[in-house]
Amino acid sequence: MFFNKFPHRANYTFASAYDGTSGVLAVGNRRLTAEVTEFGEGITNLHIHGKGLRPKRHLAHLTPPPVSAKRRTKVKGAFDATLGGVLKTVAGAGFGMCADAYLFQFDVEDGALFYGMGEKTFNRLELSGLRSKFYNTDVWSDFHFTQWLDHPSDPPYLSIPYLVVREGDRYVGILLNTAWPAFMETPGMDEERVFVEWQRTSPHLTIGAMGGEVDLWIIEGPTLAEVTRKYQQLVGTTPLPPAWALGYHQSRWEYAGEADLLDLDAKFAEHRIPCDGLWLDIGYMDGFRVFTTDREQFPTGVETVAKKLKRNRRKLVPILDPGIKREEGFAVYDEGLQQDVFCLSPEGRPYVGMVWPGETVFADFTLPKPRRWWSDHVKQFGLSGFDAAWIDMNDPSTGPVDPTDMLFNKGREPHFMHRNEYALGMQMATYDGFRRARPTKRPFLLSRSGSVGTARYSAIWTGDNVANYFYLRSSIPTTLNLSLSGVPFNGPDMGGFGGEPTDQLMTDWFKAGFLFPFFRNHSVKESRRREPWTFEGATFGTLRRYIQLRYKFLPYLYNLFMDQETQGDPILRPLIYHYDEARFAKLDDQFLVGDAIMQAPLVNEERTREVEFPKGSWYDARRGDWERHASTRVTPDHAETPLYFRNGAIVPTLPGMPTDNRKNLRRVEVHLFLDPEAPGHADYTYRADDGETFGYRKGKRSSLHIDVKWTSKAVTIVTHMPEEGYGEIHADFVIHGGLEHVSLNGEAHATEPVRVVLTGRPLTVRRVS
Ligand code: NOJ
Repeated sequence: MFFNKFPHRANYTFASAYDGTSGVLAVGNRRLTAEVTEFGEGITNLHIHGKGLRPKRHLAHLTPPPVSAKRRTKVKGAFDATLGGVLKTVAGAGFGMCADAYLFQFDVEDGALFYGMGEKTFNRLELSGLRSKFYNTDVWSDFHFTQWLDHPSDPPYLSIPYLVVREGDRYVGILLNTAWPAFMETPGMDEERVFVEWQRTSPHLTIGAMGGEVDLWIIEGPTLAEVTRKYQQLVGTTPLPPAWALGYHQSRWEYAGEADLLDLDAKFAEHRIPCDGLWLDIGYMDGFRVFTTDREQFPTGVETVAKKLKRNRRKLVPILDPGIKREEGFAVYDEGLQQDVFCLSPEGRPYVGMVWPGETVFADFTLPKPRRWWSDHVKQFGLSGFDAAWIDMNDPSTGPVDPTDMLFNKGREPHFMHRNEYALGMQMATYDGFRRARPTKRPFLLSRSGSVGTARYSAIWTGDNVANYFYLRSSIPTTLNLSLSGVPFNGPDMGGFGGEPTDQLMTDWFKAGFLFPFFRNHSVKESRRREPWTFEGATFGTLRRYIQLRYKFLPYLYNLFMDQETQGDPILRPLIYHYDEARFAKLDDQFLVGDAIMQAPLVNEERTREVEFPKGSWYDARRGDWERHASTRVTPDHAETPLYFRNGAIVPTLPGMPTDNRKNLRRVEVHLFLDPEAPGHADYTYRADDGETFGYRKGKRSSLHIDVKWTSKAVTIVTHMPEEGYGEIHADFVIHGGLEHVSLNGEAHATEPVRVVLTGRPLTVRRVS
């Protein structure tokens, strides 16, 4: 597989005739069948199948709205199609094939803008003028370190061939629903890459794959938000995670067993730093044998350690690798052999790669039986004291061994047919194991690789990054595009996995990332320890402050995840998600957390930066005043980060400043950000549940509706509880922005000044008594 070589249209034979009645599509000598199905809500599917296109046997399960029409008539002559009424194929060269590979060419307007593409480290939000492959890699193993050290390496771990095109005043999402390696070429000019003419990309948008039937989805809508919601519902939203998964996570390669973990537990308590997850990297296993634990490190077993950690409500998250040690006498291997669950080589024997334990074999996660077998092991593992799993190396990494000899479905299906969904199969099986271990509890998984459908089972971290400003800066567009591509629960290793962060980089990373959907501090083997207290003075104080602030905003984040599950909105959003202005089209060092918070962190060595504001007034969390300009220059000090609340924002938080990981979601402090110079009306529904079970799906949830009107002089707050399934919600109100006169549920209430520290100096605000 060449990562940086791309198909050329001249080598393809294009469809020359199409019979709208029979659906027969002629491509050279091939006679294929093409069907267009229109679902409701602006979603269209094109299915092309027939001889030469290998039938699908894929894991992703899409959930489109009901069909509104099956149509063939819109496709004319030589497959000149206008898909979904918006996307035009190139006349006479719309769909082409070259051996098993196929591609589409679409006409797009000059100046069209592109977003999405799953997980990419291009260090930009807008993606015109690029060529890219979709093939899950193990970046540090598949590229030389000079290729990933401080600039984009492509393709990375996770592949989602999904692109959002902005043309004129509409957005179109295009999903190639395939696990085969795919490719895209976007029109436009990338000044950084084009220094000879042939590096210029095709003027047509090109999307294709190396094989398989065609399953193309077009999703159309007037805004990026609308297209994203529809797309997320189609590929599956993320089930509400347990609340602890949204806390702070401490990881490193490697913590050394029971004593080390108990010491961490004590230190987080001693330093008053909330922390929910302690992570176990590969060394906890007995000789890297999956589903075992090393007795020297855990003399009394994992279960007793897990129990001890529960006293401080902490969870232990072990790594699980798909590579199974090839060793007679190792029960998991012997049993797998006997049950015939491993991927085979072309010679009909279990395929062997080289990962941590040396020679390793791999379960065939594309088949139900091996998934069930893996799930049974996970179930036992879950019962032994683990609440969650970190599933790594599922690209799948085979070390230096060529993966293409790893075949699926008893050796009948080539590696490329399933590689990109190997991780998805592992996620499905692992999720199932935890569900069966504890049927009432929400499982939590973190996976490195993934594909379309991953969001239904797992969060994603963006793999091995490096402690430098390239990775800090690029983590914003990477997370934003991943969020637009159907994986809303994601985040990078904070501080950078490889290398050693300076104090400044570490604090900049925490300040930029403390509200990212996933928040974990993880580092490579033999790096210096990175727990917050290992940093001195001001750095320690700042790291602690931002972890505490994460917990303060946890009710807000948790509610965003609830909306995500039902509506499909991502947690982190580019500004164009809510503010469709040309100046935001390429803005990728600022982002929105939900629709109430905007961050503009320092993401390079410079200590000053420009911040762009959407229309309206924005409350500056550093200084406690209103910003009403279109842009401003800021120079935050070491403990500060530029963070703003939109006028009218209603933000539920935990009371005070949390110093441990307790989260009573029924007792909140609701912050109102109200500009007296821009009076208005806002409302918000805060929801609370037990944070860990599926009870919320059966009515064990309470909600508090908050309605706020404000004038230049006074605030009127009216609350009521539409749902009470999880008991009463107690809310205190804090008003930012200068207003002091409050009526709450029809009664005048006094307000008193209180001090609050957010992302800058202490602010004096008004608490409603
Ligand atoms: C590779 C993962 O990306 C990294 O996070 C982990 O620490 C190592 N594998 C060792 O398990």
